[in-house]
Amino acid sequence: MSTSDLKGAAPLRPISPAPSPAPSAAPVLRVSGLSVAYGGNTALSVDALEVREGEVLGVVGANGAGKSTLVNAIAGWSRGAPRVAGRVFLDGADLSALPAHDRARAGLLLVPEGKLVFGQMTVDENLSVLAEVAAGKGRRVYDREAVFELFPRLRERRGHLGSQLSGGERQMLGIGRALMLGPRALMLDEPSIGLAPRLVATVLQTMRTLASTGLTILLVEQNVRAAIDIVDRLVLLERGRVVVEGSAAAMRDDPRIAQAYLGTKES
Ligand SMILES: Nc1ncnc2c1ncn2[C@@H]1O[C@H](COP(=O)(O)OP(=O)(O)OP(=O)(O)O)[C@@H](O)[C@H]1O
Ligand SMILES: [Mg+2]
Repeated sequence: MSTSDLKGAAPLRPISPAPSPAPSAAPVLRVSGLSVAYGGNTALSVDALEVREGEVLGVVGANGAGKSTLVNAIAGWSRGAPRVAGRVFLDGADLSALPAHDRARAGLLLVPEGKLVFGQMTVDENLSVLAEVAAGKGRRVYDREAVFELFPRLRERRGHLGSQLSGGERQMLGIGRALMLGPRALMLDEPSIGLAPRLVATVLQTMRTLASTGLTILLVEQNVRAAIDIVDRLVLLERGRVVVEGSAAAMRDDPRIAQAYLGTKES
């Protein structure tokens, strides 16, 4: 929205710090005009995407739709040598020029598939090697105990090496490590992949719990059936573009989601 869109609107009142994570008008995470090309091929072209405080935005789509490309570009990670254009804002601050580690320091965190875990370190060690983090607005820096409270299974496995963990436990550990970095916005790339259905529910429900504390979440999922129960809004990506976007309730009835992902027939 440009300022000209605001002509005639009432002057905006300054935003005072909210005592609780009530939904605020300004998005925590905002992306505009983001495009990514590998060689000559455009893999992603997203005009605008917003996630508000305490909201869980789901991003779904088939293999190769551009989901990982999207979150990697937002986090400032590059796989190969993509050409990235566009802007990424966190609480209104433009992070586009920052490298990945500075975006993380600012509170924009990505949990890739199981990759934030050190295989040759124990769970305890994985949860103690983090740099000191300066807490900022709306950022809670978890300590190891808080991570264990969220994922009691990790406490039981605290002496095991990262490489000895199951897929679900690795995923929990990866999320735990991200939480210790005090995320303002947390992005997760297919946290449920390869997990048993009961664990999928556990991990996704934890996202809901975290959102209720005010954490802003962008969740990439292929498991639309599981995701739609816990997200607030859903975005469907196809060939790198947003083809439909709406509330979870509206998306449940959208034929593009229902037919392709929920297995229901158009009536
Ligand atoms: N490093 C790269 N070099 C060239 N092309 C790439 C690279 N990474 C991804 N692509 C291409 O970009 C497109 C989007 O890939 P991406 O990994 O973002 O999809 P995805 O939606 O995450 O898929 P999946 O569900 O399989 O993880 C695909 O066509 C893919 O082949
Ligand atoms: Mg992917």
